[in-house]
Amino acid sequence: MGSKITAMADRQIKDKLIDLLEIYKKMGYDSLPEINFKIPKSIPVPKPKPSPKASNNDALLNAIKDDIGNCTRCKLYTTRKNIVFGEGDPGARLMFIGEGPGADEDESGRPFVGRAGKVLESLINKLGFTREDVYIANIVKCRPPGNREPEGDEIAACRGFVERQIEVIAPEAIMTLGNVATKTLLATDKTIGQMRGEFHDYNGISVMPTYHPSYFLRNPSKKIFTWNDAVKVLQFLGIEVPPRPA
Ligand code: URA
Repeated sequence: MGSKITAMADRQIKDKLIDLLEIYKKMGYDSLPEINFKIPKSIPVPKPKPSPKASNNDALLNAIKDDIGNCTRCKLYTTRKNIVFGEGDPGARLMFIGEGPGADEDESGRPFVGRAGKVLESLINKLGFTREDVYIANIVKCRPPGNREPEGDEIAACRGFVERQIEVIAPEAIMTLGNVATKTLLATDKTIGQMRGEFHDYNGISVMPTYHPSYFLRNPSKKIFTWNDAVKVLQFLGIEVPPRPA
């Protein structure tokens, strides 16, 4: 409507208004009636269609899932309930990679949904993202019994899948969470304490190692280290850094 009005010549607008006033006068008004514009409470915003990259990646990720199948490549299959593939935006700019599923993840088939997951999700939210904006996966897809660390043969059998997930998603940055993810992806024997806080390269992708969220369940005061690591990632991605959480 706005464009129609601006497209009209001033003279035409005046003429139309005069006509309108004449009509109101004939209807018995001696002043202009109050016009009640109804403003809708919220204007529905159409959901953005997934980008071609995201829908193509979705298909490629499903192909990896199919290859994993009902996996028996290592001994973890004997005790697992569910394979935890990973989830999030298939075209994510940022990926988080943990060690392996715990009890809650084994039960639900979803990564980082237990206590450590709540800590990770809180960090993701404080960075200005939702879980759906990033991609979350693990080095091994089946739960090591009793939440022990995955063993060398288990990592060897499974790491190819997370590597393929990274290749498909092609994130701009990865945060590896804890020793297992960092040592596996970056092929290093250095500890997380030595590796965190600096970017490292994985096949041309910038990797920021940081502490595993379960570490903060025992040491909440140390969360600031991971916040600082995550701030470097935001700056690298050119995303405005939110205020430091209290
Ligand atoms: N710890 C991990 O490393 N990954 C999960 O998915 C949950 C807990």
